[in-house]
Amino acid sequence: MTTVLTYGTFDLFHIGHLNLINRLSELGDRLVIAVSTDEFNAGKGKTSVVSYEDRARIIGSIKGVDLVIPETSWEQKATDIVEHGVDVFAIGEDWAGRFDELKSLCEVVYLPRTDGISSTEIKQMLRVLDPSHITEMQDALSVMSRLLEHYRDLT
Ligand code: CTP
Repeated sequence: MTTVLTYGTFDLFHIGHLNLINRLSELGDRLVIAVSTDEFNAGKGKTSVVSYEDRARIIGSIKGVDLVIPETSWEQKATDIVEHGVDVFAIGEDWAGRFDELKSLCEVVYLPRTDGISSTEIKQMLRVLDPSHITEMQDALSVMSRLLEHYRDLT
């Protein structure tokens, strides 16, 4: 039995997350995912759109995921590896080299990321729907319409 462990926020679950989970599943027989809590993210200056409880439920419902645990600190990895009998620690290659110290406890693998998508990019795309942006657009349209009226009156 090979146990695989990973960590992540998994906000606004997307195809990059699904591809990663599928790749993780192929590395072993049992997959444990530590999902970052809202408090842990707040300490990093990150806010997620989806709450920890909902992100954990979504991740736990994905085929191939056997156990979801909370990620509450940077230091918990060594303890988690021992406690859950982990053979492989794996994470996206955006973290390449960052967890090499865990090699004394288990195998460490950096997996390819899916191009062109991230939670941050989705949030940026959704910002155009922010009410303050709609107000800005309405203001701009009103200026343009007044300008058009002004030019029409001149001609
Ligand atoms: N991941 C991936 N491909 C992507 C996005 C994420 O393989 N396109 C992987 C990351 O490498 C990580 C895991 O998914 O191992 C969880 O990453 P997370 O930071 O939650 O996802 P991102 O979409 O990268 O979120 P953010 O933009 O907030 O960093």
